[in-house]
Amino acid sequence: MHCWRKVMRASQSYIQSLYEGSDSELRRITEYAVEHHVPIMEVDGIQFIKQLIRIHRPKKILEIGTAIGYSAIQMAKVDSSIQITTLEVDETRYRQAMKNIQTLNYENQIKAIHQDAIDYLKERTEAEQFDFVLIDAAKGKNKDFVNYTAPFLKKNGLLVVDNVLFKGYVSGENNESKRLSKLGSKINSFNQWLMNDERFETTIVETGDGITVAIKQTK
Ligand SMILES: C[S@@+](CC[C@H](N)C(=O)[O-])C[C@H]1O[C@@H](n2cnc3c(N)ncnc32)[C@H](O)[C@@H]1O
Repeated sequence: MHCWRKVMRASQSYIQSLYEGSDSELRRITEYAVEHHVPIMEVDGIQFIKQLIRIHRPKKILEIGTAIGYSAIQMAKVDSSIQITTLEVDETRYRQAMKNIQTLNYENQIKAIHQDAIDYLKERTEAEQFDFVLIDAAKGKNKDFVNYTAPFLKKNGLLVVDNVLFKGYVSGENNESKRLSKLGSKINSFNQWLMNDERFETTIVETGDGITVAIKQTK
């Protein structure tokens, strides 16, 4: 088991190395993220999401958790007709996201909003519909994020959640930190809950930090 895990990690490093340097525009943003300890999606994770977007062809995307705009810009790059609304609760990160979006000329495609996602969604009417939702915010609140976004996701729309394997803390193979093991248990409960939720047909893919892809079955 331990040995297999090592092979899996080596495979992930190999896949990640294939993407290195493929997006020079974004290098500055990823370097800023490392320097300022801002968590952003792993390269194989975001590349998988971009491929889902190419297949599913959403026109309107809702993202919960902008950070500094890395994943929103990556998604916008897939097609210039895609419109993205992205929510960020932290003011410093929101300001940096706005800077990045402006510098790379994505203001026409990406609307970044500085607000708690749940407060934002409480104020919306369901007339505003999205065909793709990416949840990548506070990991302990995933269930709330799903429940609050579900009414805004069209039938057959995709719900994507990042970090559902959370660095091995969900399966229990990693237990270095007690605090993160607790969070891992919470994410495990969320995974079980969503798998059994009849509103969605759900699968988990072991890429990036673990990504859920759920298709909404209901209106
Ligand atoms: C993992 S980062 C997002 C990374 C980003 N998606 C990327 O890959 O470039 C998670 C972000 O969610 C934000 N966040 C956490 N809870 C939130 C909430 N309730 N509403 C909006 N943003 C939230 C955090 O401040 C943090 O910047």
